[in-house]
Amino acid sequence: MKGSLRRTLASRFAATMAAGLLLATGAFYWSASRALQESVSPAVLRSDLLLVLVAIVVAGTAATLMGAWHFTSSAVRPVAEITAQATRIEAGTLDQRILAHADTEEYEGLVAVLNRMLERLERGFVAQRRLTADVSHELRTPLTALRGEIEVALRAPRSQREYEHVLRSGLEEIDRLTELSEDLLLVTRTEAGLVSARRVSTDIERLVGDRLDRLRRRFGERDLAVNRSFRAAQPGALIDPELIGRLVDHLLENALQFTPLGGTIRVQLEPMPAGGVQFAVENSGPGIAAADLPHLFEPFYRSDPARTRTADGGTGLGLALVASIAHLHGGVARVSSVPGQSTRFEVDIPLVS
Ligand SMILES: Nc1ncnc2c1ncn2[C@@H]1O[C@H](COP(=O)(O)OP(=O)(O)OP(=O)(O)O)[C@@H](O)[C@H]1O
Ligand SMILES: [Mg+2]
Repeated sequence: MKGSLRRTLASRFAATMAAGLLLATGAFYWSASRALQESVSPAVLRSDLLLVLVAIVVAGTAATLMGAWHFTSSAVRPVAEITAQATRIEAGTLDQRILAHADTEEYEGLVAVLNRMLERLERGFVAQRRLTADVSHELRTPLTALRGEIEVALRAPRSQREYEHVLRSGLEEIDRLTELSEDLLLVTRTEAGLVSARRVSTDIERLVGDRLDRLRRRFGERDLAVNRSFRAAQPGALIDPELIGRLVDHLLENALQFTPLGGTIRVQLEPMPAGGVQFAVENSGPGIAAADLPHLFEPFYRSDPARTRTADGGTGLGLALVASIAHLHGGVARVSSVPGQSTRFEVDIPLVS
């Protein structure tokens, strides 16, 4: 059964009072019956009575004081114990939880709120640590490659063309590093609420259509059928065209990369019931494992750990950026997948016009 501090204190208090009242009644009974049995003179009787009453008042006050001290201490002790446990939990021990009085009726709510807060802090810390580790790794790989190429080039005298080749390939690595740091900056600054969308009146159907057209040749190379269905029909929507353009590019690039040869891609723009537009990209393919779905929008998360940054040329921040850009527009990005059939990404963009 759940412990109740109030019940424990009330019953202890009642028991103490009952004992005190019993004692007082006994003393009073003793003095009254003595007065009735023996023929005691009224003066002696009065002084006896006075003595008994004074003794009851003194003893009663002392008992009440001791009792009240004990009860108030018992009432505040849980707060002290919960505080002590919470104080002992630090950045390195965020996996610990407060156990003191977790099942005491009056404190279970407080303990549960504190434990939920610890859980959120722990998740934040773990994500932060993982991001730092991932960023270090992603930075180290191109830097090592760059260093290797320069070292090899410097080992012996080279022709003008060879130096040019090394410099060009170095420049490529630097471009990738720049892109990585800019993408990362956008993701982290959005999370911290430090950027805002530069909204201008945009024809969103045209924007998506243009981006699709740019990729037409690459879709053709992989023999992919692209179906478009645009029903948004809100030409003057206030969005950040550059950011939404990047969002559209990332989802189309992913569809291009992850749809098996000869597959189908469906690109949709639909009006949302509550106003705004939903942009969706769906592609045929093996789908994404259910266990991966909740993590897909995390920076550097890849459902296939064997794929590395250098193998595909991207920064691994595509979907994290999609989520950040959607968030910047007050919207949300979602993914769903039917194993063995398809993967669908949806972005809700509430429109301000
Ligand atoms: N359309 C898709 N179909 C199947 N899996 C996908 C699809 N889009 C994304 N994924 C999975 O989600 C992972 C994360 O995608 P994200 O775009 O964030 O990074 P990336 O494509 O690996 O790198 P980058 O976008 O920088 O080139 C991918 O590695 C892939 O495993
Ligand atoms: Mg991608």
